Amino acid sequence: KENKLWGGRFEQTVTDKVEKFTESISFDKELYKHDIMGSKAHASMLAKQGLMSESDKDSILKGLDEIQRKIEAGEFEWRADREDVHMNIEATLTEMIGEPAKKLHTARSRNDQVLTDFKLWCRDAIDRIAASIKNLQVALVKLALNNEGLIVPGYTHLQRAQPVLLPHLLLAYVEQLERDAGRLLDCKLRMNFCPLGACALAGTGLPIDRFMTSEALGFTAPMRNSIDAVSDRDFVMEFLSANSITAIHLSRLGEEWVLWASEEFGFLTPSDSVSTGSSIMPQKKNPDPMELVRGKSARVIGDLVTLLTLCKGLPLAYNRDLQEDKEPVFDSVKTVVGMLEVSAEFAQNITFNRERIQKSLPAGHLDATTLADYLVNKASYCY
Ligand code: ARG
Repeated sequence: KENKLWGGRFEQTVTDKVEKFTESISFDKELYKHDIMGSKAHASMLAKQGLMSESDKDSILKGLDEIQRKIEAGEFEWRADREDVHMNIEATLTEMIGEPAKKLHTARSRNDQVLTDFKLWCRDAIDRIAASIKNLQVALVKLALNNEGLIVPGYTHLQRAQPVLLPHLLLAYVEQLERDAGRLLDCKLRMNFCPLGACALAGTGLPIDRFMTSEALGFTAPMRNSIDAVSDRDFVMEFLSANSITAIHLSRLGEEWVLWASEEFGFLTPSDSVSTGSSIMPQKKNPDPMELVRGKSARVIGDLVTLLTLCKGLPLAYNRDLQEDKEPVFDSVKTVVGMLEVSAEFAQNITFNRERIQKSLPAGHLDATTLADYLVNKASYCY
C-alpha cells in the first residue's frame, strides 16, 4: 500500500473498511477544476512571496494544466486510497513533476483548500441555476404572449373566484422566479470571501499574501476570521435554502399544470413529446414531467435538511463530519437545474384549450364581485 500523504508518523495502514468509509473521492472529484484553480493561485502567491522558486512554480502550473487535461480526457486515475480530490491531484502531480509538487501544500491545509474549492464550485453552480431560471422565465413570458387576452377562471381555495387573464397568472410565476434568482445572487455575494490562508484553523506564520489569492480567484476579499473560515457552512445552507424555495415554486407550478391537464379541468394539453403513457391503460397520456418536478422538490428540501442537521452539533472548528456537506449540495443543484429545464420544456409544449376554457367560464359566478362593485358604484351616485 502507498503511504498516505499524511502518513508520516503512522505505523500501520488503515483497514480497507475504514478507507472505503472515509474516502470522498467518489464524489468530491466533482471539484477538480476548482481545486486546480485554487492550487494555481496558491502556487503563484507562494512564488511571489519568496516561499517557492519561480521554476518550481512554473513546473507546478504546467503539471496542473496537464492534470486538468488528463481528467477531462478521462485519462486520470482516481484512487480511493488517495482519499479525496486534493490528495489525488497532489499525489499525481508529485508523480509527474517530483519534488516541486511537495512544496505546493506550504501554508495550506485541506481545510481551507476544500472550502475554497467548494465556494468556487457553488459560485459557478449559482450562475448555472440563474441562467436556467432566466430560461424558464422567457418560456413563461412567451406562453403569456401566445395567449394574450385569454380569460381563465381564477381560484381561491380551489373554488372559482374571479376571471383573470392567463398571462396575469403565468407572469405571477415569472415574478416568483425573479425573487428566486435574486436570493441566489445575494447568497453569492455573501459567500464570496476567500478562505485560503486560514489553513487548518489558525492561519500561518509564513508571510503569505491572502489578498493576492483572493483577488486571483475573483473573491471580494479574504475572510476575516480563520476559525470561522474553516468551520462554517452557512453559505451552503443559504444556497440550499434558496434552492428549496425555488423548488417549492416549481412544485406549485407543477401541481397547477397537472391539475389543468386532468379531464376534470381540461384547460391544457401537453404535447406527446412531454407526456408519458401507461403500461396497462392504453388511453393514458400523463403529464409525468411536471409530476416529477413536484416530486423532486422533496429531494431538494431533504438536501437542505441534511446540511442543517449535519452542522447542528458541531463544535469549532473543522470536523470530518463536514465532508458530508458535498453530496447534498451537488444533488440539490443537479435536481433544481433539471426541474427548471424540464419546466421550460413543458411550457414550450403545451396548448391551452380555448374552447374548453371558454365553455367553463359561465359556471361558478365568476363575475359576482364585478357585479357587487357595480352596485356599490351605482349606489354611490346617490351620495
Ligand atoms: N475531504 C475533506 C472534506 O471534504 C477535506 C478536508 C479534510 N481535512 C482533514 N483534516 N481530514 O472535508
